[in-house]
Amino acid sequence: MKNYLSRAREWLLQEKYQGRTNSQYFNDLERIKKGEPLDYIIGFKKFLDCHIDLSQKPFIPREETEYWTEKAIEIIKKENTKNNLKILDIFAGSGCIGISILKHIPQSKVVFADKYTRSIKQIKLNIKLNKISPSRYRVIQSDVFDNIKGKFDYIFANPPYISKEKAYRVKESVLQWEPQNALWGDKDGLFYIKKLLQQASNYLKVQGKIFLEFDDYQKKAIEKIIKQLNYSFYVFHKDQFKRWRWMEVVK
Ligand SMILES: C[S@@+](CC[C@H](N)C(=O)[O-])C[C@H]1O[C@@H](n2cnc3c(N)ncnc32)[C@H](O)[C@@H]1O
Repeated sequence: MKNYLSRAREWLLQEKYQGRTNSQYFNDLERIKKGEPLDYIIGFKKFLDCHIDLSQKPFIPREETEYWTEKAIEIIKKENTKNNLKILDIFAGSGCIGISILKHIPQSKVVFADKYTRSIKQIKLNIKLNKISPSRYRVIQSDVFDNIKGKFDYIFANPPYISKEKAYRVKESVLQWEPQNALWGDKDGLFYIKKLLQQASNYLKVQGKIFLEFDDYQKKAIEKIIKQLNYSFYVFHKDQFKRWRWMEVVK
């Protein structure tokens, strides 16, 4: 803990205050001591070269998500020379995934969707901060697919997938400070993953693809769900820590 505090202090000083202390800095030190995540105190996170503001306290973008999003962007670039790619970032949160897609795939257009007003506000702010042209995006408040129309080339999803039964594995600071709506996927963690997989094919073009994040131990159960649905292909991938973390599913 002591180690964490001194590292956090140094990081804060450099990232937010460019090495110069002031009274706000000392207020922030108190926030660190109370356990608030450093990313909220600094106020933003870098995600694939994009500036992701966290002022609305969305789910903090994770490095595992950044890892697979980068891989997925590489896959899309290899698969496509098409001029106009329609992509859905569902469960968008801060908007980190969709914004990095817009930055790194010039021919893409992204629909951002999230159920909660705070996320919608955060996504719009991040779109503005990253200077995305209005012709390239839409932001839709939607409970999963309820308000989504049309068909997409790709769907990116990092749904709430923590199992209530495994709550003991979740860090105290996550439980206390991050939005609860972003975390829980019911008893087994699969509620939204299942819902997404059951409905997504209605929103995919022929040969359209889903990129989905999940937790290591859920791989087997997800495979069982997929096998009952009508997808033509799927493949699981590991993250940078060698844990099963994301998958591609083709309509
Ligand atoms: C794990 S976070 C992912 C956020 C972001 N995409 C990322 O990767 O950092 C899940 C997000 O799903 C949203 N969410 C929760 N329930 C939802 C629902 N029923 N429909 C749509 N979005 C929902 C939460 O508000 C949260 O922003």
